[in-house]
Amino acid sequence: MVARHEVAKTTDFEADGDRVFVEINELEVAVFWIDGEYHAIVNYCPHQGAPLCEGELTGQSTVDEEWNWTYDETERHVRCPWHGWMFDVTSGECTDTEQYRMPTYDVDVDGDTVYLLR
Ligand code: FES
Repeated sequence: MVARHEVAKTTDFEADGDRVFVEINELEVAVFWIDGEYHAIVNYCPHQGAPLCEGELTGQSTVDEEWNWTYDETERHVRCPWHGWMFDVTSGECTDTEQYRMPTYDVDVDGDTVYLLR
């Protein structure tokens, strides 16, 4: 059963990319505000356990099979502060290695209160 956990007030997110950390049942999660939407992801890097969500938010370069590069300017990727692996905050996908994906959670807003659903 999914429970609703209060994590912050909407006023705690002043600028795009702001984040709030919350511990729920001994699991630390970061709630980000990106491009007008809230996203929650576990604050743990599967590589060696760094506090992933303390890293920089950035865009992402990708290359296709014909070596055409594109750059997604939406700053929705967090760079692990220890060794630089990148994770898409909106999906949990690691863009450096497909074998890792971090759990993400839905976020609900009711009035001026932000809730994480877990
Ligand atoms: S601990 Fe995150 S990339 Fe190494």
